[in-house]
Amino acid sequence: MMRKILVAGNWKMHGSKSMVRSLLDGLLAGSSAQGKADLAVFPSFPYLSLAESILSGSHIQWGGQTLNPNAQGAHTGETSGNMLVDMGCRYVLVGHSERRAIYGESDEDVATRFNAAQDAGLEPVLCVGETLEEREAGETEAVVERQLDAVINRVGIDAFSRAIIAYEPVWAIGTGLTASPEQAQSVHAFIRDKLLSLNGIIADQLRILYGGSVKGSNAAELFAQGDIDGGLVGGASLTAEDFLAIYNAVA
Ligand code: PGA
Repeated sequence: MMRKILVAGNWKMHGSKSMVRSLLDGLLAGSSAQGKADLAVFPSFPYLSLAESILSGSHIQWGGQTLNPNAQGAHTGETSGNMLVDMGCRYVLVGHSERRAIYGESDEDVATRFNAAQDAGLEPVLCVGETLEEREAGETEAVVERQLDAVINRVGIDAFSRAIIAYEPVWAIGTGLTASPEQAQSVHAFIRDKLLSLNGIIADQLRILYGGSVKGSNAAELFAQGDIDGGLVGGASLTAEDFLAIYNAVA
């Protein structure tokens, strides 16, 4: 199965109107629908409308960084999946480690958001990954499995035909420490093998992205691994030059 590489930019809480305009203009100019990789960006909510107006009809997709699992109602400050769909989003991140660590989202909360995203018609990008302490304690696979099981038990394996997984070791996010291609591949293979035991076709088609200090200089080696189907990129997605270096690293 040839899975098309996806290069996804998680802008986190960065940006301004002028930055969004110049970044997206740069990405449109430097990439194409015929390219070897798909491209997606995840702006903060205030910039989704601007992203939609610039990217509509182009080959670049966009998504939200999180969602509230309720469809609507008295949830001041929150944004629903329906609203993201209304802004033209195809994707939404769920369970990013910053949401888990800073905003207290539990595995169950993440499963609820995954489910709500799909109910709204979005394709969730489920982020999983271990902390440095967990890796050093030899718990990487157990942690990733626990995070996956919470979602699988809630929505079932079939739901993964409309989802993406991003393996992001917490110790590699924003630190400049990238997992080696072998370390990343080993966890990606573990994830795919786990899903293979539940549904071979879905596991084979599922895109599993790696995230954690991906940059132009390490992307090619990471994407060359058999079970790494792209990257979820933070810091290096904030300028067109850095992000396109990753896009252009796709063999
Ligand atoms: P980073 O962030 O590329 O800056 O390490 C990745 C992420 O948090 O998705």
